[in-house]
Amino acid sequence: MEKYEIKSMVCVFQDNELCAQDSELVEAAKRATENSYSPYSEFKVGAALRLQNGVVVTGSNQENASYPLGLCAERTAIFHAQHMYPDQPIVALAIAAFANGHFYPEPISPCGACRQVMLEVENRYQQPMRVLLYGTSGTHVVDTVKELLPFQFISESLKK
Ligand code: THU
Repeated sequence: MEKYEIKSMVCVFQDNELCAQDSELVEAAKRATENSYSPYSEFKVGAALRLQNGVVVTGSNQENASYPLGLCAERTAIFHAQHMYPDQPIVALAIAAFANGHFYPEPISPCGACRQVMLEVENRYQQPMRVLLYGTSGTHVVDTVKELLPFQFISESLKK
């Protein structure tokens, strides 16, 4: 038997340590929680992404009485951005969650389905997408989706 270890690199920034662009993106994600339609979970998630041309696109989770039909904030934002700006790589994506009247101290990390969609974005544009996970105790930042999803299933996997 062989063993190997996989490590992820995460940087945690306090609000005053974020650069202006990242700070703007986190604030946009926080504001996006206000448009969440989440009467079932009462868990409001906001996502904001920056395109290479500087445009910021936001999304929030949209739920349904038929529970599995709902869509996470991240995919709402990503799919809308890719529809509107198919030629624009996404350079960064910020996520925030609001529930029980407050933003949580620890950030939420995207669900597995969203990670897979985020990975497709990197693969599509052949460049990394930074991910900023907001919590009141700090914003956790990874430089690529691969830090969140170290084992990857991508288009090349289909050709092997
Ligand atoms: N949710 C998101 O929008 N993003 C995540 O990364 C995790 C979960 C949503 C889905 C559902 O509407 C609610 O949060 C509770 O799971």
